[in-house]
Amino acid sequence: MTELPLSGRKVLVTAGPTYEDIDPVRYLANRSSGKMGFAIADAAAAAGAEVQLVAGPTNCQQQHAGIVRSDVRSALQMLDAVLEKLQGVDVFIACAAVADYRPARLASEKIKKSGTRMQLELVRNPDILATVAALPQPPMTVGFAAETCQVEAHARRKLQQKNIHLIAANCVAGGQGFDRCDNRLLLLYADGRQQDLGLQSKSALADELIQVIATELRAGLLATATP
Ligand code: CTP
Repeated sequence: MTELPLSGRKVLVTAGPTYEDIDPVRYLANRSSGKMGFAIADAAAAAGAEVQLVAGPTNCQQQHAGIVRSDVRSALQMLDAVLEKLQGVDVFIACAAVADYRPARLASEKIKKSGTRMQLELVRNPDILATVAALPQPPMTVGFAAETCQVEAHARRKLQQKNIHLIAANCVAGGQGFDRCDNRLLLLYADGRQQDLGLQSKSALADELIQVIATELRAGLLATATP
């Protein structure tokens, strides 16, 4: 049998948005369909990897029967699920659009309207990708950066601040990339290389990204910004 590019590798993927509940009927969320993350999980499975997928609320369905999927709702639940599944993982691909903040308090009853304004206090959610990258022996870490301007500069800053191996940047100005079947990705590597994957279907981009990851793993090119 021919060896597949990710045979014997374990891949953990996050996908979709997170929902941060305000009260029993309302939540805060990011605009994310989950399509890119699911395409990546499918591509990794097709490349022979053992794939675990931690998904926020989404209508997407994975195509490969072998993918082990866990559904979560909030960023805190996503972090717990990721940390629980990290054992033996070679690559962590953070594709989820995690809400950066959650309401400071979850109201147990539906909040009734009163004045003409209301204030909602938010607290910062943990950064799942940065948490994984800061572990003593992290897997290869791959992040995404969805930006509306200065795509490359913002993505490079995130690559460095989170101390990850690779970031896939895309422009979401004017709704580009959301809920569509195509996207344009620019890959930035911690060692300064970059590669424009151009505009393609999300499944073709996912296949290319998985090939890139397999090549990096084989070459052991796992440099991050800090030695
Ligand atoms: N990410 C994460 N946990 C978070 C926030 C983001 O794992 N709490 C991951 C995403 O899955 C993605 C990358 O980090 O891979 C996005 O980086 P980030 O700087 O958090 O992007 P934004 O949330 O869009 O940041 P900003 O609003 O500052 O642009």
